[in-house]
Amino acid sequence: MFIIIVLLLWIWRPSSFPVALALASSPTPRPWPHQFHSVLFANYSGSLSLIDLWYDWPNGRNFNIIRNQLQDSSSVLYDLEWNNGTSFFYTLPDQDHSSSASCRSSQIEVGILHPNWLDGATYLGQRHVDGFLCNVWEKVDFIWYYEDVVTKRPVHWVFYTGRSIHVMTFEVGAVLEDVKWQAPVYCFDKEDEETDTRASILDQVFH
Ligand SMILES: *[C@@H]1O[C@H](CO)[C@@H](O)[C@H](O)[C@H]1NC(C)=O
Ligand SMILES: *[C@@H]1O[C@H](CO)[C@@H](O)[C@H](O)[C@H]1NC(C)=O
Repeated sequence: MFIIIVLLLWIWRPSSFPVALALASSPTPRPWPHQFHSVLFANYSGSLSLIDLWYDWPNGRNFNIIRNQLQDSSSVLYDLEWNNGTSFFYTLPDQDHSSSASCRSSQIEVGILHPNWLDGATYLGQRHVDGFLCNVWEKVDFIWYYEDVVTKRPVHWVFYTGRSIHVMTFEVGAVLEDVKWQAPVYCFDKEDEETDTRASILDQVFH
């Protein structure tokens, strides 16, 4: 009944059609699920890496575990961010302790990405990328974001630096167990905290 009334209103007031069409032709990105795990393939000027992204908004934390192509496990970079603004970038010692592990922490004014962080992005239309038809947005000349038209899953994004991300898996609701979020003890040894800008942190989030 409601639909019929709306249709009748449209028939009686054809001027409302252009508004409806304009809204339909300018989609908005789907907000990020509050918890997900994603495997990302990253290409930065030909340097390739695989990134495990664990986004966990309810617990105020975001984790990027970055493996560069054909590097051993001691070079895996852990980029752990808390919503209180503290970030830890660390490596772990390898089994024979032949390489030293390191940790750097930094403090930013704002925390992790909000699920609606793409709000206000400018819609650029549709393009094919990685074999998927995508809606494309650009936000503040910082990121170009490609979302599958049908499933609304992110497919691809590119930073202004040229760092290019391809989403290989997208597991909505997947959560990394609490114990894995504990930064190593040597992260709390020294006091060489730095102040980072939002832009550089955002860039590091996705490498
Ligand atoms: C990585 O990006 C470079 C351009 O920076 C491109 O030439 C190359 O083909 C890309 N490699 C892969 C595997 O996508
Ligand atoms: C932020 O939270 C993390 C995890 O609980 C903690 O290690 C860190 O010290 C906190 N930072 C500040 C500035 O409170």
